[in-house]
Amino acid sequence: MSNRFASEGVAIVDGDEGFLAESKQLFDGDVFTTTFAQEAVDLAARSEVEVIFWGPSFATSAGLLSIETYDVNPDVVMVLVAPVNIDNDVLRRAIRTGFRDIVEEPLQPDAVSSALEQASRLMQHRASAAPAAPTTPERVTRRDGKLITVMAAKGGSGKTVVATNVATLLARWSEPGTVAMVDANLQFGDVALVLQVDPKQTIVNAAKEGEGLDAGFLATVLTDHPSGLKIMAAPLEPAFADEVPTPTLTHILDLMKGMFDYVVVDTAPALDDRLLAVLERSEQVLFVVDMDLPSIKNAKLALETLRILNFPSNAIRIVLNRSNSKARLDMGEIERSLRFEISGSIPSDGLLPASINEGVPIVDGHPKSKPAKAFEEIAKLVLSADTPVADSNRKRRWF
Ligand SMILES: Nc1ncnc2c1ncn2[C@@H]1O[C@H](COP(=O)(O)OP(=O)(O)OP(=O)(O)O)[C@@H](O)[C@H]1O
Ligand SMILES: [Mg+2]
Repeated sequence: MSNRFASEGVAIVDGDEGFLAESKQLFDGDVFTTTFAQEAVDLAARSEVEVIFWGPSFATSAGLLSIETYDVNPDVVMVLVAPVNIDNDVLRRAIRTGFRDIVEEPLQPDAVSSALEQASRLMQHRASAAPAAPTTPERVTRRDGKLITVMAAKGGSGKTVVATNVATLLARWSEPGTVAMVDANLQFGDVALVLQVDPKQTIVNAAKEGEGLDAGFLATVLTDHPSGLKIMAAPLEPAFADEVPTPTLTHILDLMKGMFDYVVVDTAPALDDRLLAVLERSEQVLFVVDMDLPSIKNAKLALETLRILNFPSNAIRIVLNRSNSKARLDMGEIERSLRFEISGSIPSDGLLPASINEGVPIVDGHPKSKPAKAFEEIAKLVLSADTPVADSNRKRRWF
């Protein structure tokens, strides 16, 4: 029959012989079917199978758990054949288990067709890979990303404005999907608002996965921005911040460093344990100082604290905000007081609050404006910096 599929490279696994017999009808020849998962897993390990259809008896939490205990060749396209009313938790678990496709039972020709197309694309991709290209999926996806933390010692200094604009520029200058942003202002984060995206999931969804959180699930929690930036949104309500304890936040950041080239972190205005844990993982810190005396006083105290904690000072760049403000403080005096050079300065400009209200970063909405040019300089600094923190420092916990 013309609408039957070649059986080569396909395995169907289920506990129900009836399901196997019915599914077999869709294939020409003798497709491999088994009630013993290990048999299919072994064939996959030898690359004799490229697609495994797991039948409905695996479409439960226990069934998926049993699949997780097998070491299934990650190159195999896994398709779950599940009942229409599959439970949401089971669905999420299936995604985490590595299923590319979840189709309704019974197995239908179009589901078979799309799974086989996926497998064939995968094969072509592998065949066209350069010889020197990484061979294991771990190495294909594993990145050695840089964490850029934007902090300030006082609220309202301009952290979010700096973080969103710098992240947007990095995303614009990079391959799509290689730059991410994390809103680690867990109580009052407004990155999603400022970038006018509507997160369906937030960092709370990631935190709920607990120990089992992995890159695959984390990717499903991120929100897309038109620039190509991937956003990990803050909790929707301040009370939910407690659901993201510091070890969970750091686990998320570590995973994201493995998924992206640059991860820009916006923070809350508090030098607390959470911020210190984020800083410990940061390759670079953009320290925003507003051009007023209380802000400079707080910055001086915070920088002293970081010095006492042995945080490597060459990782810190001072960004002076509202540099043309009426305060008219002398730049040299500020530098002497902070014992740091000023690496970038952003003028005060009414376009900035307007850009926040519009939900369009100023680097997109007014790319020729002075603040946009200032953000470009800062983003270039981020790009040009080698990993400034000495290896010895990175290996050591400094608080
Ligand atoms: N250079 C600037 N010129 C004009 N307005 C600015 C400038 N920088 C920041 N603002 C405005 O100041 C306000 C605070 O900025 P932002 O939200 O970035 O600060 P923040 O440090 O993230 O605050 P929070 O501590 O509450 O998170 C915003 O309304 C923003 O538009
Ligand atoms: Mg903010």
